[in-house]
Amino acid sequence: MPADYKAFIDAQVAELSKTVGQAKAINALSGGVDSSVVTALGHRALGGRLQTVFVDNALMRAGEPQRVVQTFRNMGIPVELVDAREEFLAALAGLTDPEAKREAITQTFYAKVFGRLVKESGARFLLHGTILTDIEETVAGIKRQHNILTQIGIDTQDAFGYQVLEPLKTLRKDQVREVAKELGLPPLIWQRMPFPGPALAARIVGEVTPARLETVRAATAIVEEELADSGAFQYMAVLLNDAATGVRDNRREFGQIVVIRCVESIDARTATATRLPWETLERICQRIIQLKGVNRCLYDLTPKPPATIEYV
Ligand code: XMP
Repeated sequence: MPADYKAFIDAQVAELSKTVGQAKAINALSGGVDSSVVTALGHRALGGRLQTVFVDNALMRAGEPQRVVQTFRNMGIPVELVDAREEFLAALAGLTDPEAKREAITQTFYAKVFGRLVKESGARFLLHGTILTDIEETVAGIKRQHNILTQIGIDTQDAFGYQVLEPLKTLRKDQVREVAKELGLPPLIWQRMPFPGPALAARIVGEVTPARLETVRAATAIVEEELADSGAFQYMAVLLNDAATGVRDNRREFGQIVVIRCVESIDARTATATRLPWETLERICQRIIQLKGVNRCLYDLTPKPPATIEYV
């Protein structure tokens, strides 16, 4: 456990420079704290020899791709925004099973989009934000094996000589946040609330379509704005795969149902619903039922377990 984060940064920067030498490296930035720290460390060590890509998978929150790219640009770190929205939407079309949806997102990212970018880049090294918990969970069989070279379709026995570098593999999440602070990354990054890899697809029960994404994205923006000062561990909007009877303009309508979820937790392994003020819930509800086609808004009181935090 490195108490001296400055020494940790210096050591990792030296190690990356030495290992990569004059070759090229590539990494994918999601805006989460792990990939953000890898991006900043990598650029400190390699400068222009590190190519950083942000893949827009159509599943991000409103303005998120542009915001993440701009945050890094402001720090003098160029990030290439790759528009892969059509590929992800095509892969998700018709899928309703939660695991099938997650698998489609993983496959599209690694086997198609990122795999292609790596091959085109001419990079010999991949920087990846694996942390200690990821390795422990993979070993314990909780997470799927994440051998990134295999995932992007590169045979590790192959003569290409690709190498994956994982500078954060000895750290836990709280330590990564400390490194982020020490690197001078903005609070926007190290204070960021958890957001799942499958992004808004984790908050759409049933098929992910552009129209349903638009609904959950707008609802998410409302919830995030209204609960920004709640101090809760995580909060979100979820779109259910059902319709409820309602009345609008004196006519019966079958509307969509949006769930607000807001939880208290230490490490996401267990969680309880936050006791939000009734007025806050009413205000959010009033805004959410203005969204096109939505006529119900519910608050989820379920703890984890038995529920999970996300819905998919
Ligand atoms: P669950 O829904 O399992 O989530 O209670 C626990 C925490 O993990 C986040 N989460 C994910 N994070 N990739 C991620 O990086 C994922 O696939 C993923 N699924 C869930 C979730 O937001 C919560 O904080």
